[in-house]
Amino acid sequence: MNSTMTDSATRQNRQVLLRRRPEGLVSHDDTEMVTTPAPMPAEGEALLRTTYVGIDAAARTWLDGEPGYLPALELGDVVRVAGIGEVVETRCDAYKVGDVVTTLTGLQDYAIIRDDLFSTPVVGYTDPLAVMSIYGPTGATAYFGMKGVGKPQAGETVVVSAAAGATGSVAGQIAKIAGARVVGIAGGPDKCRAVVEDFGFDACIDYKAGNLVAALKEQCPDGIDVYFDNVGGDILNAALGNLAHKARVVMCGIISSYLTGDHPGPSNYVNLLSKTATMQGFNALEEWAHFDEAFDALRGWEQQGLLVHRETVYDGIESSVDALNGLFTGANIGKMLVKINDPSRG
Ligand SMILES: NC(=O)c1ccc[n+]([C@@H]2O[C@H](COP(=O)([O-])OP(=O)(O)OC[C@H]3O[C@@H](n4cnc5c(N)ncnc54)[C@H](OP(=O)(O)O)[C@@H]3O)[C@@H](O)[C@H]2O)c1
Repeated sequence: MNSTMTDSATRQNRQVLLRRRPEGLVSHDDTEMVTTPAPMPAEGEALLRTTYVGIDAAARTWLDGEPGYLPALELGDVVRVAGIGEVVETRCDAYKVGDVVTTLTGLQDYAIIRDDLFSTPVVGYTDPLAVMSIYGPTGATAYFGMKGVGKPQAGETVVVSAAAGATGSVAGQIAKIAGARVVGIAGGPDKCRAVVEDFGFDACIDYKAGNLVAALKEQCPDGIDVYFDNVGGDILNAALGNLAHKARVVMCGIISSYLTGDHPGPSNYVNLLSKTATMQGFNALEEWAHFDEAFDALRGWEQQGLLVHRETVYDGIESSVDALNGLFTGANIGKMLVKINDPSRG
């Protein structure tokens, strides 16, 4: 037996499997952690050791059994999440041992990867947290949603919901770089402090303090030119009630309704007519071919000190269900991550 076969035989793979479709927050009985031998890569495959996984709202929607842009998960499947890891074994020309790759790792120690659309070698970035925060789909979402759909101009007023979160914190900074006045909406004084002091927004409204409608009017007396919405529901309705002429409403996500599946319509949509405003949804993955454009811009801004990123890191695969629920209870500032294994470098 050669050393590679020995390694494969001894590698244990902890996996979090979906056992029951959750209702609302994920209960610990909805998933089960099992340990099995790590899979052996076949010809054309490589074995990736997961270091960090990102906890995204989409990961919760995938548990519901409804097909979206990816097929629905079946009971017994590994819970699907995107992550980053290091190649530890390879039978694929595209990867060598030690390469760092982002892919749909799933909640597990080891994942099989191929040379396909889902797996992207990380070149030029050594900080896995930065890759998960800004040099991956989250950064690209903020970039294409704000630059491509919101199109903020210098002097305009931009409002961002879930402003302390992964997407919102980056989207707001991009609007600041464009010269806009940027107002965040976030839950609680600590988050609002981070939005202003860490992410450099001009102001932040604590929606949990009540009076969101009045606070938006006070902070945006001439109306909102760009509203970047991560939340939907009452917060979207309040923003629609204070639009400026020719406003752009960017529909990035509706996290307030992912746990229930109910999507009540905002009555203030009538202002789209009176303000000659537009509301547009977008899917960042449709910009996949142009992600490098986003990463180049984000990297330039980070190097100039104009863009910062933060992460909330839960430690250990055992904490992944808590981390997923934390996205819906507001436990994160910046990108929600779970550390699965220590990186060997970076
Ligand atoms: N269109 C696309 O291509 C695309 C791609 C990726 C993500 N998204 C969307 O972007 C949004 C943000 O995702 P993310 O991964 O960056 O998450 P995130 O903003 O880092 O975390 C979610 C935040 O949402 C807030 N929140 C949760 N439930 C809420 C509720 N009922 N009402 C108000 N706020 C609530 C919480 O912050 P507070 O403590 O401030 O409430 C929480 O921290 C999601 O809607 C997601 O679906 C869209």
